[in-house]
Amino acid sequence: MAQVVVDADALAVFEEQMRLCKVRAGETVVVLNCAGEHVDHVHALMVAIQRLGAHTMHVSVPRDRTLAVGVQGRHPLVGHALALETCKRADMVVDLMGLLFSSEQLEIQAAGTRILRVMEPLHVLKQMGPTEDHRRRCEFGRDLILRSRTMHITSPNGTDVKYGLSQYDAIAEYGYTDIAGRWDHFPSGFVFTQGNDHEVDGTVVLAQGDIICAFKRYVEAPVTFTIKKGYITDIGGSGLDAMLIRNYIESFNDPRGYAIAHIGFGLNERARWHQFASSRSLEKEHVMNALSFYGNVLFSTGPNSEFGGDNDTPCHMDLPMRGCSLWLDDVQVLHEGHVVHPELRFVAA
Ligand SMILES: [Fe+2]
Repeated sequence: MAQVVVDADALAVFEEQMRLCKVRAGETVVVLNCAGEHVDHVHALMVAIQRLGAHTMHVSVPRDRTLAVGVQGRHPLVGHALALETCKRADMVVDLMGLLFSSEQLEIQAAGTRILRVMEPLHVLKQMGPTEDHRRRCEFGRDLILRSRTMHITSPNGTDVKYGLSQYDAIAEYGYTDIAGRWDHFPSGFVFTQGNDHEVDGTVVLAQGDIICAFKRYVEAPVTFTIKKGYITDIGGSGLDAMLIRNYIESFNDPRGYAIAHIGFGLNERARWHQFASSRSLEKEHVMNALSFYGNVLFSTGPNSEFGGDNDTPCHMDLPMRGCSLWLDDVQVLHEGHVVHPELRFVAA
């Protein structure tokens, strides 16, 4: 009989993670992946889940090779009724496939199943791993957003943009989930919402060192987005970055790709901005270091379907920025990239 070797570090990481998710005896946790992908994670997760006395099963579906890499909301569960039904009947799904921005993910959540997305390699999981303090601060940030009517962001580089708030929910993404029907991503550490339809106006300037997640690339020359009524009306800049962004969005041939998507700020003090400059395994990494970086503003374009909006364009760009100031109504959260709100600030033990 074939034996599976499980990395001791991976087992320890996932066992702690499953404890934070309150996986317990009598529950069933589905581990979902695309065939052949994240296989080490699959094995370690299944052992970790069993150690906590829960049932586990592995649901694996072949990846559709016709889909472009990086396209959001399109995944192999589309049209796969049996796999989808199995996920909906589980207490929890560990998603190694990437269901985000899809109606299938919302359907699984609506069935009461909690979902934990895991896509990063082990060294990033260990480096960024969640704490209960991340949860406390992210939930505080979410509540602050939900009490606010506007978000205003500025930067010394020329960003000055306002979002009308109240139409959509806010999400605290802290890296684990113990609530029925709730989604999270291990690792994380940021909060975000979606501006009201037609109520995002102003200018966003990507400056040197900001990150274009779709390309895992640092901005070298400024890119200026002019935004009117929730849509980008112009992408200015003479450098390569502006050219690549214009070309990327154009390639989808979908006007909804110019919409403004989620907006928020990072709170994970363990995340590293320089990660993409120094990592030796960059091609295996996702972008959670950039999205979660303490004091960033995470600006993004494209879909709003994760908030129940009607824009499900596959053209999505995450664009984390440093050095911004951010206000929720008249409450200042960030000052030039520093977290200044006392309840959101990380304090070392
Ligand atoms: Fe995003």
